[in-house]
Amino acid sequence: MVIRKFEYEDLDEVARIAATSLQEEYTIDFFLYLWQINPNGFLVAEKNGKIAGFIVAVQPSLNELRILMLAVDKDYRRQKIGTTLLRELLFRFPGTRRVYLEVRTDNKEAIKFYEKNGFIIKKKINDFYTDGSSAYLMEKILF
Ligand SMILES: CC(C)(COP(=O)(O)OP(=O)(O)OC[C@H]1O[C@@H](n2cnc3c(N)ncnc32)[C@H](O)[C@@H]1OP(=O)(O)O)[C@@H](O)C(=O)NCCC(=O)NCCS
Repeated sequence: MVIRKFEYEDLDEVARIAATSLQEEYTIDFFLYLWQINPNGFLVAEKNGKIAGFIVAVQPSLNELRILMLAVDKDYRRQKIGTTLLRELLFRFPGTRRVYLEVRTDNKEAIKFYEKNGFIIKKKINDFYTDGSSAYLMEKILF
């Protein structure tokens, strides 16, 4: 498996994985916007020439990363691809002290995944998603 920066040619596959894995809907323009504002924070996992997953993060400040999306294609889950994407992201932003994200409070699998990767739930945010669902803010302090 290779982890590499997102390229324009990956757009359709990334959008497909997002649409089948994430509950929130994102436009193509939104992916391009995120790529434009932080190209080093948009990574894909490629396995045998296929996109198996991706991660998108932005940098709210020099020592912080906020993960906006992380998804692994259904057929490729539980193979440590999500873990590897997360590790590689942090490796590419070595000054990061705090990494955080929001996750739906009913997304038990993702919460377990993040806890396994050292994140803790900091607080609940009501009415966070467009359908009115709540989120947990989860964070990991690195140093
Ligand atoms: C969350 C997600 C990215 C995890 O990706 P993944 O590549 O399958 O995760 P990994 O294989 O790296 O999992 C690492 C560990 O996390 C935990 N974990 C991962 N998925 C889990 C699940 N469905 N149930 C329970 N624990 C889980 C396990 O401890 C796992 O280790 P193990 O397989 O040795 O038990 C993936 O399930 C996904 O794309 N989900 C849908 C999208 C989503 O919810 N994204 C997060 C939104 S913020």
